[in-house]
Amino acid sequence: MTYSKISVDIEDRIATITLTDPERRNAMSLPMREECMSALRELETSDDADCIILTGDGPKAFSAGADINELKERTVTSELSSQANLRRELPRFLETMRLPTLACINGHCLGAGLEIALACTLRIAANTARLGLPEINLGVIPGSGGTQRLARVIGLGRAMQMVTLGEPISAQEAFTMGLVNAVHEGTDLMEAGREICWKWQAKGPVSLMAARDAVLASPDIDISAGIEIERKLFALCLASGERDEGVSAFLEKRKPDLRKI
Ligand code: COA
Repeated sequence: MTYSKISVDIEDRIATITLTDPERRNAMSLPMREECMSALRELETSDDADCIILTGDGPKAFSAGADINELKERTVTSELSSQANLRRELPRFLETMRLPTLACINGHCLGAGLEIALACTLRIAANTARLGLPEINLGVIPGSGGTQRLARVIGLGRAMQMVTLGEPISAQEAFTMGLVNAVHEGTDLMEAGREICWKWQAKGPVSLMAARDAVLASPDIDISAGIEIERKLFALCLASGERDEGVSAFLEKRKPDLRKI
């Protein structure tokens, strides 16, 4: 498939989706969202990759958020119609798809850009990156799950500050509050991203997805329901055969090959 707003590269079974509109700071337009969705669906159904990195083209931005020219045209009717579904479906798909996802945040990561990054399994940032939800400054609020996911990741108090003041924070501040998992020199960012992917590639795909889904369920439900979900996901790991290989490898003092199952 050919794309004009993104590029997709696969190397060593690591797929990299790059948002490629650097002159407009990789602003998320409808065509860009559609292309992202189609690339993600293709990666999920094919067996070409084990994990996905999302990043932005150029040194300046991961994404400066929703395309403000499109925002200008949005109406109450368009917002309440199915036309608007993709804005919430894309992050949800990213969050729950079969493959783990990593946002490599190379610069400004604002509005819908941060909302996409928040839906990834993990996030790392260049030390020059700035992250924020500035929608309030345009007279709107985040519309792709940002108010909900940000509060889950960094807590109500800090999310309230970022959403109501609309001021971006530095990569280092984002790391301190757990919004990103690590900060690197910009030149080292993609290599650091690949290292995380190599670690994921050494895990079993079923236990990796189960681990992510168990954690993902936790903020939404009470502890008993959460533990019940964990128990079923644990059983799924047993059924997958990954436990057999993991435990045998430990007892035989060798490295497990959890991917071959
Ligand atoms: N939507 C559409 N176009 C955008 C955009 C967006 N979200 N963000 C940046 N652009 C465009 C600018 O209009 C400008 O276009 P021009 O060259 O035709 O004038 C171009 O991208 C470069 O932007 P500029 O502001 O000159 O770059 P910068 O490096 O000085 O600043 C930002 C980068 C990200 C800080 C700044 O562009 C910005 O604040 N963008 C809006 C962020 C935002 O409010 N996002 C939430 C949207 S709901």
